[in-house]
Amino acid sequence: MAVEKTLMILPGDGIGPEAMAEVKKLIGWINENTDLTINTEEGLIGGASYDEFGNPFDDSTLERARAADAIMLGAVGGPKWDGVEYNLRPEAGLLKLRKELDLFANLRPALVFDALIDASTLKPDIIRGLDILIVRELVGGVYFGEPRGIEDLGNGERRGVNTQVYTTSEIQRIGRVAFDLARKRAGKVTSCEKANVMESGKLWREEITTLHAAEFSDVNLEHMYADNCAMQLVRAPKQFDVIITDNLFGDLLSDAAAMLTGSLGMLPSASLGAPYTPGLYEPVHGSAPDIAGQGKANPLATILSFAMCLRYSFDRANLATRIENAVQAVLNDGTRTADIMADNCHEVSTSGMGDALLAAL
Ligand code: IPM
Ligand code: MG
Repeated sequence: MAVEKTLMILPGDGIGPEAMAEVKKLIGWINENTDLTINTEEGLIGGASYDEFGNPFDDSTLERARAADAIMLGAVGGPKWDGVEYNLRPEAGLLKLRKELDLFANLRPALVFDALIDASTLKPDIIRGLDILIVRELVGGVYFGEPRGIEDLGNGERRGVNTQVYTTSEIQRIGRVAFDLARKRAGKVTSCEKANVMESGKLWREEITTLHAAEFSDVNLEHMYADNCAMQLVRAPKQFDVIITDNLFGDLLSDAAAMLTGSLGMLPSASLGAPYTPGLYEPVHGSAPDIAGQGKANPLATILSFAMCLRYSFDRANLATRIENAVQAVLNDGTRTADIMADNCHEVSTSGMGDALLAAL
């Protein structure tokens, strides 16, 4: 049945717009060749929005994003805005979008493509066949906790404060997402915190344990201190299936997991809220200002994020799988952007990668 969806595109800063241009090619292909029609709108976020509106995410753009069926984001930030006041920095725009739409569940899969095994700094045997999913709580914890700020104590002394805080319901709702997803995967959840030193971690562990016993006892649950998880991720990453963790630990652990796959340029993410609110899809990597505008960026993380959008927001798992298979085919073929270049492969530009993908489709 023919279906129409609205997608809000926020290319952002740095390599964001270049990577997003390749997604637009895919959207053109979908509109022409499938029963799904994706109507796109575009808006500014991050430094691009700051330059235009004097703030990193304008309310008018927010309302358009809220009305869409899904949102695709490129990346935000760059040295150009280093001097900008904290709450007006590009990153604050992204945090506002996540918070305003209450996108509490951040899904960050780390999947090793066979063709990229040698791009990882880890030994092939450690990562071959790796398929883990980090479920990061995205709108709570130290990122948003109050009180926060920098206080002047006089005599040249200052005090910086942030607050790590979680409630039962915040932990339960992210817990349900992780357990649900584990049921559709290998059936194992590793919950990470620092219950040994933090009360919020102790509460996290207790609430996850209670939820597990009440609703998900068929799933295998283990608890792990977040520092140990960081170590285990590089020691023996295949022990993990779903990792659930808070906002800050999730930020760190997902960067580590990303590198297992060879390049930060390969990792997609989805941020989901309550049913019927638009999901947000963005690569895990940043805006990479050092290579912006040179056609060197790897668009695959953004493209794989778009595949997640097709799966989770547009109910088109078959199309998502087709795109993921096309990515695999292109990589098997030796097509590489600079970040994942290897012997006997051929290097292509950002748009060259998008074209190769279209050809594979
Ligand atoms: C991420 C990023 C963001 C975060 C920044 C850009 C605010 O590192 O999505 O992982 O810290 O959440
Ligand atoms: Mg991060």
